[in-house]
Amino acid sequence: MLKVGLLGAGRIGAVHAVAIKAHAQCELVAVSDVFSANAEKLAAEHGCRVLTNEQIITDPDIGAVLIATSTDTHSDLIEAAVSAGKAVFCEKPVDLSLARARACLAATKSSGQPIMIGFNRRFDPSFAAVKAAADAGEIGKPELLSITSFDPAPPPIDYVKVSGGLFRDMMIHDLDMANFIMGENPESITAIGTSLVDPDIGKAGDVDTAVATLQYRDGKIAVIKNSRRASYGYDQRLELLGSKGHLQVQNVPETTMVKSTVDGVVSAKPTYFFLERYMPAYKIELDAFVNAVASKTDMPVTLEEGVAALELAEAATQSAKTGLPVKLSDI
Ligand SMILES: NC(=O)c1ccc[n+]([C@@H]2O[C@H](COP(=O)([O-])OP(=O)(O)OC[C@H]3O[C@@H](n4cnc5c(N)ncnc54)[C@H](O)[C@@H]3O)[C@@H](O)[C@H]2O)c1
Repeated sequence: MLKVGLLGAGRIGAVHAVAIKAHAQCELVAVSDVFSANAEKLAAEHGCRVLTNEQIITDPDIGAVLIATSTDTHSDLIEAAVSAGKAVFCEKPVDLSLARARACLAATKSSGQPIMIGFNRRFDPSFAAVKAAADAGEIGKPELLSITSFDPAPPPIDYVKVSGGLFRDMMIHDLDMANFIMGENPESITAIGTSLVDPDIGKAGDVDTAVATLQYRDGKIAVIKNSRRASYGYDQRLELLGSKGHLQVQNVPETTMVKSTVDGVVSAKPTYFFLERYMPAYKIELDAFVNAVASKTDMPVTLEEGVAALELAEAATQSAKTGLPVKLSDI
């Protein structure tokens, strides 16, 4: 039984607590949060103790630390947990700062401790099926990847201010998805962003609507479209065109009922947000982590891959400021 301590009891911490609770081979033993009311609420829901980060990281009974705190704390907590000999699962992104994330990778590389980064979408059965079909050559040579990723509504402005911006906070999921599906990093990225959804996001120096184009060494292209608002729900679609066919992932509707009348054909909206759309993926992701820890095999999403996605986010952020393509070799 893997005993897990959870750092951070906010939105995603609560999701992971549910996944840990549902898993037969792990147990949520403690939760911490600088905002103690969050930790107390989650601990009461799951019947575990409230401890500090330090107490969790140094507790000899705890085998794994799950980091779900704000992004600017991730590298410090990864390093502390690795030094204490824990297996680590850390939410994306690795850090707000690419330099700090690279330093974290350098500091932990020789430890041999397992570290996994939470790119949950890789574990979504539909996206995983695209990856498997593409790798098996079922559509020939991949040529054009298109990812649509719209949130139903923007997060609170206080979250936006500490998030690192749309490219590091939100598009990083899609940038990692591009790396996952294409199996390699692009050579260059061109991005544009604008603030159309919430003027406060623009005032905070961020964008809420963006497009990035990724160009690969052999000429392949990926296009990512992001918005912080979709009035109809969480829009998560992907298409991969290959030389011999096409793969497509559509939205998951709230129900599969389709009503057909003389007025037209109506189907349900997509599920509301990440909790509803990806809960199965969060559970599969946790299972992959627990299995890799138990079997001492490679982590399914490594810290290196977390840093690689952050490099793409950094390139997209720079490109959106200058309007020019940014080569990954210059990052
Ligand atoms: N994989 C996903 O689908 C997904 C979804 C949402 C958020 N995230 C990531 O998870 C992280 C948290 O996001 P969130 O939406 O849950 O934010 P949140 O603001 O809802 O929760 C963060 C929590 O961490 C606490 N916290 C901050 N610093 C801390 C520290 N040093 N020690 C202990 N607790 C601390 C805060 O008080 C808060 O309760 C971010 O890095 C975000 O990018 C990932």
